[in-house]
Amino acid sequence: MKTVGVLGTGTMGAGIIQVLAQSGYNVVLRARRQTSVDRGIATVEKNLDKLIKKEKITEADKADIMARVHGSTDITIIKDADLVIEAATENMEAKKALFQELDELCKPEAIIATNTSALSITEIAAATNRPDKIIGMHFFNPVPAMKLVEIVKGLTTSDETRETILALTEKLGKTPVDVAEAPGFVVNRILIPMINEGIGILADGVADAKGIDTAMQLGANHPMGPLALGDLVGLDVCLAIMETLYNEFGDTKYRPHPLLRKMVRANKLGRKTGEGFYDYS
Ligand code: CAA
Repeated sequence: MKTVGVLGTGTMGAGIIQVLAQSGYNVVLRARRQTSVDRGIATVEKNLDKLIKKEKITEADKADIMARVHGSTDITIIKDADLVIEAATENMEAKKALFQELDELCKPEAIIATNTSALSITEIAAATNRPDKIIGMHFFNPVPAMKLVEIVKGLTTSDETRETILALTEKLGKTPVDVAEAPGFVVNRILIPMINEGIGILADGVADAKGIDTAMQLGANHPMGPLALGDLVGLDVCLAIMETLYNEFGDTKYRPHPLLRKMVRANKLGRKTGEGFYDYS
């Protein structure tokens, strides 16, 4: 495997591009708008500059890494990729349409992975003519810092596809964990309801945001508290995951808290919009 296509240059896409290019893969990335292509590349450059400052890589390393990254708004840029990783919007209909397009464009032997955080791999696979080559590769935010990748096998994913992706994940310096398809997989089924509960505690006036986060940082040894983590993940993403859990399990314990909905309606999505439970402006 030499060339990997990445679709989407948001928080996750940019991190995935960086990790792939740093591990020696050629990366062809596609976003719908040129501003998004530019933003994705700029994010990778900015992160590499931080690594130069920390003396973890040199200017020459950065130049080598960036020479492996090519972006376009034209989706045909991915047509020769051995693997495509989709990190676009968390919307089933949009993903299905995208995977149909990818299926037509990509080499027959290419694997197409999705970074979906909660949607069904089997359903996405069923929209293509290569359901055995569709798999979940679920990275965590911030991608360069987080070691885990959940490798999600849908009902139709072949063992060969799974083994290829497990090996690639290790080459990226990450730790893969095999996960059977299930709403929210492992991490988000635990983590996102915890964030939702933190929001409920805030709404109940039990403690303020800083108090809740300090309590969980010092009382449970979490690197960041649930509200700061919600802001990092994106409150729209948290809501989408809670809705998937709620709809799939039909259990009220997964009901999105009304304050989470209100935050999303107000476009207070966390770091990416400059405001969530904290102000980032
Ligand atoms: N991009 C790249 N690297 C980053 C980074 C970023 N945005 N933020 C931090 N890092 C790296 C730093 O460079 C540093 O690396 P080195 O040790 O090699 O120098 C390392 O992470 C630690 O960073 P810091 O010392 O600056 O800061 P910290 O110790 O406070 O750690 C953190 C920052 C890694 C984000 C930590 O707070 C943390 O682990 N938070 C929890 C993150 C988490 O739970 N993520 C999962 C969210 S759920 C998800 O993503 C799945 C989903 O589907 C929604």
